[in-house]
Amino acid sequence: MTAFDALKTQLRAEPKTWLITGAAGFIGCNLVEALLLLDQRVVGLDNFATGHEKNLAQVLASVGPERWENFSFKRGDIRDLITCHAVCKDIDYVLHQAALGSVPRSLEDPLSTHAANNTGFLNMLVAARDAKVRRFVYAASSSTYGDHPGLPKVEDVIGKPLSPYAVTKLVNELYADVFGRCYGMESIGLRYFNIFGRRQDPNGAYAAVVPKWVASMIHNEPVYINGDGETSRDFCYIDNVIQANLLAATSQHPEAANQVYNVAVGDRTTLNQLFEAIRSLLVPKYPHLADFKPVYRDFRAGDVRHSLADISKARTRLGYEPTHRIGEGLAEGMDWYVRDLGEQPV
Ligand SMILES: NC(=O)c1ccc[n+]([C@@H]2O[C@H](COP(=O)([O-])OP(=O)(O)OC[C@H]3O[C@@H](n4cnc5c(N)ncnc54)[C@H](O)[C@@H]3O)[C@@H](O)[C@H]2O)c1
Repeated sequence: MTAFDALKTQLRAEPKTWLITGAAGFIGCNLVEALLLLDQRVVGLDNFATGHEKNLAQVLASVGPERWENFSFKRGDIRDLITCHAVCKDIDYVLHQAALGSVPRSLEDPLSTHAANNTGFLNMLVAARDAKVRRFVYAASSSTYGDHPGLPKVEDVIGKPLSPYAVTKLVNELYADVFGRCYGMESIGLRYFNIFGRRQDPNGAYAAVVPKWVASMIHNEPVYINGDGETSRDFCYIDNVIQANLLAATSQHPEAANQVYNVAVGDRTTLNQLFEAIRSLLVPKYPHLADFKPVYRDFRAGDVRHSLADISKARTRLGYEPTHRIGEGLAEGMDWYVRDLGEQPV
């Protein structure tokens, strides 16, 4: 039995109360769904800056009305300390996901990114500390590796941030560490690599590459590759992220808390390979993709060239064992995209 299987059994037997910030977003709504399916009590917070009501409606449809009774949602903003205090009341574990993602967004509007990702983060830390939650798990980011060229990325060796977004995520780690030292608070930062899966938003200027490309291919619109396509990433399916969060919140390993962990698979995929993998999965349903080619354009500012995680620390201290490599995740997630984008084969 894996550590995650054992944990699920234990949580079902002794349900806990969880706060998910960013509950209407991609990762947040998947965490809400997974926890409700485990019969946990869940509180969600979101201001819908980039999240959607539709995501929560899909969670309701998935878990059913009975389990939905265990969910309470507050529309609110982490930039407001009173709101943060209110939602932290009687919470066992916080899974803090709310933030403004995207490197390009932060280059265009560093102030908004700072307000959500740093002021909001600090508010949540203070509120979680005051509520004496058992553990505060937060979404950190692989962008923290910045300009360090080493591969694979190991938690202790980081470079300088390459974007305002990366600065905010590094500052999160510094604050969490200091709250451990100064107030004895337990936190864990999960440095997500490139996460993808169901309910990830394909729309908008700052959409992530997988949903954006899937939507473009289905709609027969151009797919742009920034650079030569040999830029690589460690793409990680949402189910691995759910596992990492639940293990991080509850791990009893004596050296688990007040650490950061890579959350990825440990595989490297180039953008050219990603394009081909998505295209070949969609071709049977969308024959127009048989000869479909990407459009290459300039490299994008603030992007790192290669990214690949060493996940041994999460394996050892959290019992993390990814269940989906990129191919399995794409295959599983693709059905959802095809359904959700609601398009007939063209
Ligand atoms: N998706 C990835 O590949 C990835 C990689 C690294 C880190 N992350 C981090 O993971 C977390 C979740 O990302 P996601 O991909 O689900 O993004 P998302 O945009 O889908 O979700 C973020 C959610 O936070 C909410 N939010 C933003 N500002 C808020 C505020 N001030 N108050 C309350 N809610 C607010 C948004 O409305 C949204 O629902 C973020 O912290 C992000 O930085 C994601």
